Amino acid sequence: MKTKIAQKKKPASTKKKTVEKKKPVKKPAEPSESKTQKNLRTISLLRGMKDITPKDELYWRTAYHKAEEMANAYGFEFMETPALEEAVLFTRSLGKDTDVVDKEMYVFEDRDGTRVALRPEWTAGAVRAYINHGMQSLPQPVKVWNYGAIFRHDRPQAGRFRQFHQFGCETIGQRHPCLDAELILVAYNFLKDLGIHANVNINSIGNLEDRQNYTIELVGYLRSKRSYLCENCKKRINKNPLRVLDCKEESCAEVIQESPQIIEWLGEESKTYFMKVLECLDELGIPYILKSTLVRGLDYYCDTVFEFFEDGNEEKSQNALGGGGRYDMLVEQLGGQPTPAAGFALGLERVISILRAKEDNKNLLEKPWSKVFFAQLGDQANYKALKLIEEMRLQGVIVRHNLAKASLKGQMETADKLGATHTLILGQKEVHDGTIIIRDMDSGNQEIVDQNKLIAEIKKTIKTAKPRK
Ligand code: HAM
Repeated sequence: MKTKIAQKKKPASTKKKTVEKKKPVKKPAEPSESKTQKNLRTISLLRGMKDITPKDELYWRTAYHKAEEMANAYGFEFMETPALEEAVLFTRSLGKDTDVVDKEMYVFEDRDGTRVALRPEWTAGAVRAYINHGMQSLPQPVKVWNYGAIFRHDRPQAGRFRQFHQFGCETIGQRHPCLDAELILVAYNFLKDLGIHANVNINSIGNLEDRQNYTIELVGYLRSKRSYLCENCKKRINKNPLRVLDCKEESCAEVIQESPQIIEWLGEESKTYFMKVLECLDELGIPYILKSTLVRGLDYYCDTVFEFFEDGNEEKSQNALGGGGRYDMLVEQLGGQPTPAAGFALGLERVISILRAKEDNKNLLEKPWSKVFFAQLGDQANYKALKLIEEMRLQGVIVRHNLAKASLKGQMETADKLGATHTLILGQKEVHDGTIIIRDMDSGNQEIVDQNKLIAEIKKTIKTAKPRK
């Protein structure tokens, strides 16, 4: 940018040459990082975040593939909502005294002053979309699934991240015990197909009135045991007493064990409904554990609630592989017509960490593998290679290559490392003759073919090729 000093013209009448002392022009400060190239700090991952690198590709692709297959098989349609929503969507849905909203939500003011939040779960967004897109006029129930990133400013530890991924399904628009059972079945089968033996913990928390009556009883009981409770639970008695039942502190265990059981406070309708859900699970042969202290940490739930744990790995809440339940009031709470609904979400980091620890992972997808490598030598071959590779791709032959590598030896080594069964070799001579060499990587035999016949020839050659060890 020009400064005023540089733009100033000398007055025409001035004869005497005066050397004007220029004021030093203050340059804008450089951002500190570019002061000296040597001192650039490396930028690390934020706490609680995780990169998914190619070494984990197969786990993630397998999980996505299985989620898609399951969702399709049970008639769920894919729906994506933004990662960023108005914060009030979550405070109103999940409840402002829940840990997720109170302590863990990423909330900030957008540049236009709107209070926004990174989604700490997907259900509220799905319900917002259901209302916004008038889905109540579609045949009910509307069954949607999602697979994506979720954000919670949780205390990072094993299995607990600040950005993680969920596979979730929601059935919105009908209330029926079979729908609850179907959701459990989808999640259970997803885990089973991945080779994970899961246990389903299940409970019913009844309707709002049942819960209010139960809460009065629970608060009375907890007050009488206050001195035995951990500091957190002492605060929870008045703020969110149901959360005490979820506490994993040793000091609280006995108090929780002897606490009044919510199931005894259910009204007739909720009790019958719950019995029918269990009957459906029996019919489907899904084993479950009745867990009277299971209440889930979000306010929108009613009636059926459930969680999934890997068999034998249930002692810590951060081991839950997933959870869900019925939320019949939520659509109305978010401004829609009264509409019953239920759903679940599975935490994929936890699922994948189990897969990673397994020795035999026969359920993993195969690594994408290309049978053919393209090696080129010299400038002309280099340019021609890219064109031939593109022609082959259009005909369904996927070719690996390294066009930036000049040495043939180096390229052959790469082909070997990738397990290619055949290498195509294009040098100056072949470019000139309009031919190309097909080399069998095991026998070392080479065949010269016309470039025009290459695709047909290579398709024939690799038809029965198996990956090399
Ligand atoms: P949620 O129990 O809060 O439920 O989360 C579901 C699963 O997400 C957990 O069981 C766990 O596997 C995973 N998860 C939660 N927090 C973390 C974390 N910080 N790091 C890694 N994984 C985590 C829900 O989100 C409900 N929206 C489920 C639902 C759908 N209910 C009805 N429909």
